Amino acid sequence: MIKTIYFEDNKVKYIDQTLLPGEYKLISCTDVKKLETAIKTLAIRGAPAIGVAGAYGIVLGALSYKGNSKDEFFHAIKEAENIKNARPTAVNLMWAVERMMGYFDSIKNKSIEQIKNELILEAERIRKEDAEINRKMGQYGHPLISTGDGVLTHCNAGALATSEYGTALGVIRAAVEAGKKIRVYSDETRPLLQGARLTTWELKQDGIPVTLICDNMAGISMRRGLIQKVIVGADRIAMNGDTANKIGTYQVAVLAKENNIPFYVAAPISTFDPKAKTGDGIPIEERDENEVTHIGGKRIATEGIDVFNPAFDVTPAKYISGIITEKGVLRPPYEKSIKDLYAI
Ligand code: MRU
Repeated sequence: MIKTIYFEDNKVKYIDQTLLPGEYKLISCTDVKKLETAIKTLAIRGAPAIGVAGAYGIVLGALSYKGNSKDEFFHAIKEAENIKNARPTAVNLMWAVERMMGYFDSIKNKSIEQIKNELILEAERIRKEDAEINRKMGQYGHPLISTGDGVLTHCNAGALATSEYGTALGVIRAAVEAGKKIRVYSDETRPLLQGARLTTWELKQDGIPVTLICDNMAGISMRRGLIQKVIVGADRIAMNGDTANKIGTYQVAVLAKENNIPFYVAAPISTFDPKAKTGDGIPIEERDENEVTHIGGKRIATEGIDVFNPAFDVTPAKYISGIITEKGVLRPPYEKSIKDLYAI
């Protein structure tokens, strides 16, 4: 089983995803700034995984303080809170850091040692809950998949994007565990190739049949009858169901609708943002132009060319057939089903 990020011997251990599939390297980290850089550079990536990393960031901030002044200790924790700004779109990062800070507020009267220990326990709860939630989504989601289906996915919403098991790939894993014979189609996912590098790698580890396609091959794959379902993850879901996910997801959703193929999103409730009424309220990260002009460190584009490099796009709710959560599958109209979800 792939464990993407965990805490051991007072260190955060994570797989450096920038090196996959060529090299599998486990990094040990004791420095919150280094962890923040790992999130920014996508060594740790995927909405739930960066949420777990954010929670561990608060722990590392607390553990970095070795003295006995509570003021200074609190200051170290406050500084660590900046990790929530490492990337702007995946709301799980802010959600996890805010949960840690809320918990910290509730135990402030305890001793420094106790606070350190209890922050570790809370971060561990966040990691463990994420793993459990993914398995629950798998149970709710896999009945949507049938033997014989070709299932298209975009980016990597797998074990590598979570603490383990995955969201979209968790549903796929659950279908396979239930004995269904399926084939996954993985979009390569330019510019950073999470599909080609990560989704194919982790599915191959599990022996799940997977075919890699370039992003511009989704249309022909649908027209040829290779795809019966689309399932993707999410970085932030607005209260009307509009969903931000990896750049290119929107065009896959439009193609799916055109071809009468159900398009599903799998995401934990921590990915919903009660402050975003619609997708217009979701901040979209823009990244360095080198990611577009270069592949594997080699320039492929004309020198001096203008570049637009948004890392995410928003799929309007009208293209989404269902949103798989740990509490069940939400159906349109999402204003109502999401509201009901919060009432459960
Ligand atoms: O830029 P990334 O690789 O962090 O983007 C990841 C995605 O868009 C995933 O699909 C999303 O975070 C869901 S992960 C379960």
